[in-house]
Amino acid sequence: MSIGARNTGSGSQGGAPGDGGVVVRPYEPADRAQVRRICFETGYMGDSVDWLWRDRESWADMFSGYYTDCEPESALVAEVNGEVVGYLLGCLDSSKAWDPGVVALRHVLRRGIALRPGTARVVWRSAGDILVDAALRRLPSGRVVDPRWPAHLHIDFLPAGRGRGLGSVLVRRWLDTLRDRGCAGCHLGTMAENTSAVAFFEAMGFRREGIPELMPGLRSREGARLHVQLMVQLLGDRSGPSYSAAT
Ligand SMILES: CC(C)(COP(=O)(O)OP(=O)(O)OC[C@H]1O[C@@H](n2cnc3c(N)ncnc32)[C@H](O)[C@@H]1OP(=O)(O)O)[C@@H](O)C(=O)NCCC(=O)NCCS
Repeated sequence: MSIGARNTGSGSQGGAPGDGGVVVRPYEPADRAQVRRICFETGYMGDSVDWLWRDRESWADMFSGYYTDCEPESALVAEVNGEVVGYLLGCLDSSKAWDPGVVALRHVLRRGIALRPGTARVVWRSAGDILVDAALRRLPSGRVVDPRWPAHLHIDFLPAGRGRGLGSVLVRRWLDTLRDRGCAGCHLGTMAENTSAVAFFEAMGFRREGIPELMPGLRSREGARLHVQLMVQLLGDRSGPSYSAAT
């Protein structure tokens, strides 16, 4: 499957009016390193996650590895002036995607992230949170595999790519691909505290499903626990906001 032809040019691809350096195109293997870099540099609600998790390889393996390495045909990137500044990583069948927790465990065994100074704190804190949350019956539901919304997506832009309409272009293109393939719906998880992202996804036609769930191990800079919000969109209806506003 291919998501779309290479598009170059100006506003029609979602760039700022008169910006000739904007390109939205399918992911290519040569983009892998930059996608992994963006994944890390935007990993904390759009900011770098390096203050929380100082190991780019394990982070990128958890959150971008499946998409670049197993389902690259469902990925899109956006370039500004020749540099990839953002991506949408899609998955048609969420039951196939890697569970980030399992990927993390692999890194515990193979690369010792439970002992490395940049990651050990979060690894052990996650274990503690899981024990406490299990006792209090408030563990997160985990990977979402639901026939109502079998597909999912991740989307991230470096600051240079934000607010130019590129995120909407990538999401609309992914949702159109899903409709063309007869997919029932799409979901995503975002930090509930990332209010900009929640607003963006609502503008794209997603709605919140259920209440935010505590994420083991994660903390804000102030030390507060963070929550993940499931957001969903049923497809098949071309009158929804994500379609009617499409380019
Ligand atoms: C969230 C993100 C993907 C949005 O992409 P974007 O290209 O910046 O968004 P767009 O310019 O296409 O905005 C589309 C619409 O979303 C809404 N929106 C976007 N950013 C918003 C914000 N900060 N606050 C409120 N609404 C916002 C608006 O309705 C906007 O339409 P408008 O420009 O006509 O008002 C991007 O800003 C980003 O990567 N942020 C950091 C990483 C992140 O949070 N990723 C999501 C993690 S799940």
